[in-house]
Amino acid sequence: MNKWISLEQVMAHEEAALPELRGAMDSCVRQVLNNLPAFEEHFPDANSEDNFYTPGGNPYRIDDWTSGFWTGEVWLAYENAAGELMKAHLKAVGDRQVETYLERINKKLAVNHHDMGFLYIPSCVAAYKLTGSARAKEAAVKAADQLMTRYQPAGGYIQAWGDMNAADNRRLIIDCLLNIPLLYWAAQITGKPRYREVAERHITTALKYLVRDDGSTWHTIFFDGEGNFLRGATCQGYKDASAWTRGQAWGVYGTAIAYKNTGRAEYIEYFKRVSRYFLTHLPDDICPYWDLSFGNGDEDQPRDSSSSAIAACGFLEMSKYLPAAEAAFYVSAAKKLLGSLIRGYQVTDPAVSNGQLLHGVYAKSTPYNGCKNAGVDECVIWGDYFFMEALTRLLKPDWNVYW
Ligand code: GLY
Repeated sequence: MNKWISLEQVMAHEEAALPELRGAMDSCVRQVLNNLPAFEEHFPDANSEDNFYTPGGNPYRIDDWTSGFWTGEVWLAYENAAGELMKAHLKAVGDRQVETYLERINKKLAVNHHDMGFLYIPSCVAAYKLTGSARAKEAAVKAADQLMTRYQPAGGYIQAWGDMNAADNRRLIIDCLLNIPLLYWAAQITGKPRYREVAERHITTALKYLVRDDGSTWHTIFFDGEGNFLRGATCQGYKDASAWTRGQAWGVYGTAIAYKNTGRAEYIEYFKRVSRYFLTHLPDDICPYWDLSFGNGDEDQPRDSSSSAIAACGFLEMSKYLPAAEAAFYVSAAKKLLGSLIRGYQVTDPAVSNGQLLHGVYAKSTPYNGCKNAGVDECVIWGDYFFMEALTRLLKPDWNVYW
């Protein structure tokens, strides 16, 4: 038994067919509707406990970066629901939730970090694109301004966390590739080029250092005060030199969006390298373990189903810009990943879970990473969201991307 199956074996898996995709989305919309009474004005935490999310505020807690995904699920349900009454109800809930993001950014509640894209794109940028809401636009532009305060000119990157003047905090992380699209959106909406300039500096710096020669990725890169590269490290992966699965998936989707926003050919090459590494480090059922150093024979380790959903979104995004044969390959890969998620990981019974995808991991402690266990083998709210996004992309080929 090989730890990872070959690319040919991955591509021999069964794609999710159209009726399967439709059934999966119908089930997701039902689950969002089931959750509305408890989560109309409340938000789930980053992960479930025993497969159930509990309602909290926006922010849920002081380090909350994830509430946007629940509002994003509401908007995706709105886009996919059948029936005007149901749609009107979902829109009303989405609009009410937008108010909490405006209040959050106005009061600067738990926004002193780089995750403004994760928070404000699926919630407020989505609301603006779908409904033209001026309140959503105001909130998202203010969030982009907040993100701009994280820019470190020495080195040219957005600093992930912590005090901007503390030497230990001079780091970027791969996840930020999904926060950067907020700056491109703000540049377009306001006509101010500075957002785009910062976005491009960050992407250039990030990809230069994050992608290793073999196509695997670092989670995090440290710099000195002059902006010189110091070292790569992990925060949530198994160990520094391993490839944290979700980081790799952020790399797949992040490079696809970087290409969408810049048209730079080198980002296609980065995308292909990180995608190949992802697709060649999968176990038999093609849903990855939480770190890509694990595979068949490591059944004591948990999967991270959310990474599969994120990577599928990246494959589908990049397929729009590739020649036909390459595009077909990535669309097919996305359908195969989704087939595995639908058949083995999707919640189909609300008595089992109020999430969408079982078997995700937020953070897993190892002797090498300094993490505490959080949401190990649980639903994770971004996994639920990106699963719905990937299904939407396949069901609505002209879908107006939120990112
Ligand atoms: N952005 C943090 C994570 O992916 O867990």
